[in-house]
Amino acid sequence: MTGLLEGKRLLITGVITDASIAFHVAKAAQEQGAQVVLTGFGRLSLVERIAKRLPQPAPVVELDVQNLEHLDTLADRVREHVDGLDGLVHAIGFAPKSCLGEPFLDAPWQDVSVALEVSAFSLKSLSVAALPLLAEGSSIVGLDFDARVAWPAYNWMGVAKAAFESTNRYLARELGPRGVRVNLVAAGPVRTMAAKSIPGFADLEAGWADRAPLGWDVNDATPVAKSVCALLSDWLPATTGSMVWVDGGVHALGM
Ligand SMILES: NC(=O)c1ccc[n+]([C@@H]2O[C@H](COP(=O)([O-])OP(=O)(O)OC[C@H]3O[C@@H](n4cnc5c(N)ncnc54)[C@H](O)[C@@H]3O)[C@@H](O)[C@H]2O)c1
Repeated sequence: MTGLLEGKRLLITGVITDASIAFHVAKAAQEQGAQVVLTGFGRLSLVERIAKRLPQPAPVVELDVQNLEHLDTLADRVREHVDGLDGLVHAIGFAPKSCLGEPFLDAPWQDVSVALEVSAFSLKSLSVAALPLLAEGSSIVGLDFDARVAWPAYNWMGVAKAAFESTNRYLARELGPRGVRVNLVAAGPVRTMAAKSIPGFADLEAGWADRAPLGWDVNDATPVAKSVCALLSDWLPATTGSMVWVDGGVHALGM
């Protein structure tokens, strides 16, 4: 049986530990036949070490989405490993301390602007940086936390995610005519480094498993990873600008 992603060349951002959602996406994608290149931010030697834990050790290219030189040279540096791309995964999020946890009213614009640049605008800058490599029929997938509503503690990261969701729709408009799909997976809470940095994450994850019609395991990123792979595959060819909830069904309930 051939894998869902046989022959696909993927650029996957956002691996920092083996708990990262991006690590599980890379693993599931390789298991389905994809060739994976990772990007790493900051602690490159750590990311390289984690990359060796994948079924096939993956090359790592440096990328800080706030660094214009990194973005401008990304396509050329990725080209050293693959001759083109069929998919791109955005799994990047960051907000300064003042933006997460209470009080919402005190976060200064300087901090909020960083959250917006790294967590929302970067979907655009990363997509543009990778565009010269993206083949017709490519798929871009971003990792979201449902921003239609306000959550405890998520605060300005929630505002950044709302901008991320809107950026997804505008990118879908722009890139559709080039044959590139853009979609988000709105995941339920998963215990990763980013999640643990949110004061009050315990409140967010508390009760999720009980509320979810399908149940939910905060220690298992596999359902999220598989859903990202489905969007990277050829099996949702007419879907773009969408948000797919992978949260055990919590989003569908009132109470
Ligand atoms: N963990 C959850 O509960 C959850 C739920 C829904 C959505 N998400 C989203 O999933 C994505 C991945 O997060 P995760 O939970 O796997 O945590 P993680 O800490 O493993 O990954 C976050 C990544 O963002 C990268 N990053 C931060 N600043 C960057 C920059 N300037 N340039 C490039 N990369 C940068 C980090 O290096 C790290 O690899 C994020 O967008 C997050 O908001 C997470």
